[in-house]
Amino acid sequence: MCGIVGYIGNEQAQPILLTGLEKLEYRGYDSAGIYVVEHQKGYLFKEVGRIQQLKEATDYSICATYGIGHTRWATHGVPSTQNAHPHQSFDKRFTLVHNGVIENYQELKETYLSHVVLQGQTDTEVIVSLIAYFAQEKQWSAKQSFQYVLSLIHGSYAFALIDNQTPDVIYAAKHKSPLLVGIGSQFNMVCSDAMAGIHQTRQFIELHDGEFVTLTKADVSIEKDGHIIQRQSYTAQIDASDLEKGTYPFYMLKEIDEQPAVLRRIIKEYTKDNQLDIPNDVKQAILTSDRIHIIACGTSYHAGLVGKYYLETFAHIPTEVHIASEFSYHPPLISGKPFFIFISQSGETADSRQALVKINEWNYPSLTLTNVNGSTLSRESNYTLLLHAGPEIAVASTKAYIAQMAVLSIIAYALSHDTLKDAFNLSYELSLVSNAMESIISQKDDIHIFAKTYLKDAKHAFFIGRGLDYLVSLEAALKLKEISYIQTEGFAAGELKHGTIALIEQNTPVFTIITQDETSLNTRGNIQEVKARGAKTCTFVMGKLATKDDQFILPDVSKYLSPLLSIVPSQLLAYYATLELGYDVDKPRNLAKSVTVE
Ligand code: G6P
Repeated sequence: MCGIVGYIGNEQAQPILLTGLEKLEYRGYDSAGIYVVEHQKGYLFKEVGRIQQLKEATDYSICATYGIGHTRWATHGVPSTQNAHPHQSFDKRFTLVHNGVIENYQELKETYLSHVVLQGQTDTEVIVSLIAYFAQEKQWSAKQSFQYVLSLIHGSYAFALIDNQTPDVIYAAKHKSPLLVGIGSQFNMVCSDAMAGIHQTRQFIELHDGEFVTLTKADVSIEKDGHIIQRQSYTAQIDASDLEKGTYPFYMLKEIDEQPAVLRRIIKEYTKDNQLDIPNDVKQAILTSDRIHIIACGTSYHAGLVGKYYLETFAHIPTEVHIASEFSYHPPLISGKPFFIFISQSGETADSRQALVKINEWNYPSLTLTNVNGSTLSRESNYTLLLHAGPEIAVASTKAYIAQMAVLSIIAYALSHDTLKDAFNLSYELSLVSNAMESIISQKDDIHIFAKTYLKDAKHAFFIGRGLDYLVSLEAALKLKEISYIQTEGFAAGELKHGTIALIEQNTPVFTIITQDETSLNTRGNIQEVKARGAKTCTFVMGKLATKDDQFILPDVSKYLSPLLSIVPSQLLAYYATLELGYDVDKPRNLAKSVTVE
């Protein structure tokens, strides 16, 4: 979702900002812009569409040494140049970029700006004009005006502001939306995440809610409620090669290919005394609870459903899984000693964060599973366990999903009794999965053919399965629909006949996942039902359960861990179907990687 980058230093600002915006592309956006200043004269460039268009529209003859940039994912107002950021105040004195949503912007506009004609429909344009309004009315400095406006705002924001009358300064402020300061020698930066600044520096300072920052090229001053905050910087552990596509045409394919390595890294990171384990304090905190609540969105929610199975099967702890946006406003009846697990690749998802704010108000313990150390959810929960998946750039989550399931299996295993540990060596079984994934990935050409055969002209598709296979079907369907735009449903195979089978027509593609012994025959019965109604069926079946009529055979792995494997052909199927349809695999329409609004 929206991304911010700002730079102030001695180098030319345009290429630095544009590279930063490219690194933020993965978050999802529909327009982008930069504002740069040369000798107190500002230049604004905005484009709807890709950063490449913005690059082409930018004037590089300007020797600007500071500026701000933004990628926008439309919330208030359609994607258009008028609504793209940076936004300027009615008097053109102030220029602002914003990530977040200002809830009371209409009210503020009516109260203070009824005389002002705004260019677009965004909340941000109201805020920047409000800053100009108070600067004029009260004869306040930029900082006074900005801080006063912040005190009037309800909602979430990360802001970066330039005032034409205060040269060589960028102001920034944060509440609920992520923002970091990047520290350099003779330059400083602000950015939504470390990736946007990593081409210039590895040193970052996290900003907390309510903090206000003044940046010059030589200095960073952070304050909150008038008090100066001193905070150590940290070194971002991002390998620059992780951020490159290399020889891959799309990040999604690279990230699918990385999954075996991610699994091995997780095994290494969580091995203690030759056994998979989690830190003792996390273990004790969970063991003193009577029920676990998992809270997440999207793909992370699907991983949570598999996590429930692990926690109940391995550790015998009753577990519920909640969609974050539902939990916050319709919480279930909560038992006496609950423990909350938040799953979030980015650690920034606003819906999950809102639920965590509630949990913290209620004083319940929580753990965040995230890929991003130091992310908001990680900071605000009591414990964090990292996914170690490496940066995930494609909007469609793949390697983070398998990492989430793997870490959840390790948590459940760590909480289980010795009898399970004696009978089941999770580390060994996960390493078998990692080898089996490699074998599937090496057959990607076969899956490419499936994509052409089954999905070329498809308008609708189904994934079905039972038990764990049903949970994977939900994620497989999400993968296909979110990038190929083929309407796809994941369904419990046995439930199809209770209504949804009415949608099966001649040649409707139905993909079936079969990895569980006890339900394989029933599921095969369901395949016959859809076949009889004209469906074109394709099966992904575990080796030991396969017959000569099956289409794709998965290597045998532990039945518990089959979700980590059976999702891989579906990820590849979604990838190739989208490639064949000619859409941008990594940046599907209307979607954002990091959804920082509720
Ligand atoms: C967005 C992304 C999904 C992701 C979901 C949750 O909707 O497009 O791919 O699963 O957010 O994100 P999180 O970072 O919290 O796992």
